[in-house]
Amino acid sequence: MTAYKSGDPTTIRQLYGRRQGHALREGQVELVENLLPQISVPTDSPVSSPILFGDDRPLHFEIGFGAGEHLTQRADMLPDHGFIGCEPYLNGVVGALQHIRDNVLSNVRLHMGNALDILEHIPDETLSFVYLLHPDPWPKARHAKRRFMNHGPVDLIAQKLKPGGEFRFGTDHETYLEWACMIMSQRKEFEWLCDGPQSWMIRPGGWPETRYEAKARRKGHEVWYFRYRKI
Ligand SMILES: C[S@@+](CC[C@H](N)C(=O)[O-])C[C@H]1O[C@@H](n2cnc3c(N)ncnc32)[C@H](O)[C@@H]1O
Repeated sequence: MTAYKSGDPTTIRQLYGRRQGHALREGQVELVENLLPQISVPTDSPVSSPILFGDDRPLHFEIGFGAGEHLTQRADMLPDHGFIGCEPYLNGVVGALQHIRDNVLSNVRLHMGNALDILEHIPDETLSFVYLLHPDPWPKARHAKRRFMNHGPVDLIAQKLKPGGEFRFGTDHETYLEWACMIMSQRKEFEWLCDGPQSWMIRPGGWPETRYEAKARRKGHEVWYFRYRKI
């Protein structure tokens, strides 16, 4: 068996979460069969704004968008920017497709699968924003290698962000918070955008609430928000 090596992106090539929940209704199946193929990210070519949108617009990348609340609200706020969202959970993808259809969004592309498979096809230093919001916590220490916040995936994020680009991370999970702070404190290519003790406890502007964040708040959890600038 290969030993876990911190920094190896292959350690989370295996997807551990669930891929499908309840059966889809007829209208949802139609979205998956008709809309999803039209807006899916190609997996056999470089992934860039000119290829996806035909111009040089700023490109945003969301890892594990859940049901797409944050992705689609950001896309609605910034209609001249391009958005790529990755999520392996079918019912979540359907949620995003519904938002895309209802809000007539033409600036969103989706990948139903592992974000790493798309991230590696993005040319270096071309992303303006990367979002990792409420990633699966994998709270047991022996599952730490499954967390998306590990040096391997963060190497890729750093490689793909433009200098001055932003990596946003949010969680309400204490173990993940500590882990993420440990990982990010070891990174030399990011500057933490923290302008006071409250700045990581209050949701910054232009950061729509996600479904998991709302759920955490309902349970009375604190939520922590981090913005890192690529140097
Ligand atoms: C706890 S949920 C949070 C969803 C959403 N970001 C939110 O805040 O509501 C984490 C999501 O990440 C997805 N996920 C896990 N590993 C992933 C990967 N390697 N690439 C893309 N998505 C992933 C899971 O399927 C799950 O939907």
